[in-house]
Amino acid sequence: MFHYTTMTKLNIRLEVMQTIEKSMDEMMLKYLKPIETNWQPTDFLPESDSPGFFEEIKEIQETAKTMEYDLWAVLIGDTITEEALPTYESWLMSVEGVSQDGKNGWSRWIRAWTAEENRHGDLLNKYLYLSGRVNMKAMEISTQYLISDGFDIGTGHDPYKNFVYTSFQEMATNISHRRVASLSKQSGNARLAKICGVIASDEARHASAYIDFITKIFEFDPSEAMLAFADMMRNKIVMPAHFLRETGGSIGSLFSHFSDAAQRIGVYTTQDYIEILETLLEKWNIDKIKDLNGQAEKSRDYLLELPDRLKRISERIKIPQEQYKFSWVGI
Ligand SMILES: [Fe+2]
Ligand SMILES: [Fe+2]
Repeated sequence: MFHYTTMTKLNIRLEVMQTIEKSMDEMMLKYLKPIETNWQPTDFLPESDSPGFFEEIKEIQETAKTMEYDLWAVLIGDTITEEALPTYESWLMSVEGVSQDGKNGWSRWIRAWTAEENRHGDLLNKYLYLSGRVNMKAMEISTQYLISDGFDIGTGHDPYKNFVYTSFQEMATNISHRRVASLSKQSGNARLAKICGVIASDEARHASAYIDFITKIFEFDPSEAMLAFADMMRNKIVMPAHFLRETGGSIGSLFSHFSDAAQRIGVYTTQDYIEILETLLEKWNIDKIKDLNGQAEKSRDYLLELPDRLKRISERIKIPQEQYKFSWVGI
């Protein structure tokens, strides 16, 4: 544990980051896969130089037709979210304690994490292009807008808040890709089920890594970690695509149409948000953490009561049933 008598909050954060950085090689080995043996998008797509290429595309287009509208719209929205990876990488590079100079372990982590994540948008984009059921130009315009508009996730450059955010987000993406996988399987689309399944398992690995970073942060700086966690939850975890917009439109209601569709088909719901929070409370042993200052004790109480409060609120939320016509969805 570090002591606040002689050091500022920022100095302690930098010390904590440097301390964790010492085990970066070990963590990269544990949470990331070697590039040579990792899956690549091509493993799940027809090879354009193979004689059966056109047959396979026919099959992709036939099975894509069986997917229901909301599921298809959510899959496209998920793809755009994955494609906005430049925003996430550049944001994480500006976190306190991360530096692109020298051999900083944190920037090595972020680059290697980005390199794994980059396969997600790549694979989904190629699949959607082949599916014949997407207005690709509209999707590409939304993607360019989303990268250009950036995001505002309420973390500042604080490593504690950022890793709480990424822990939450990686769990959320794991859930949503996993659900799209099982709904695809139910509608007879085995290829898409496999695609979303492998992406979901990457997200689960990444979630474990960020959860581990915060576990370590709690060991070194429990009060500040607690305050950061509570602060993120007070402001609500916003999704990375909350600035989503489509061709001809402005930032506003499009993200809520996307999230309503995800709620309607059970791909990502308020209940999931609450369950992620409960998992994090458990993983970080929030009820057992000692040596907290007064303010952090109050934050801990707030966090422990939050799931029940959110459950009561969520009972009153009504999800709009009317499907929104996204410009991305083809026939
Ligand atoms: Fe991803
Ligand atoms: Fe991810």
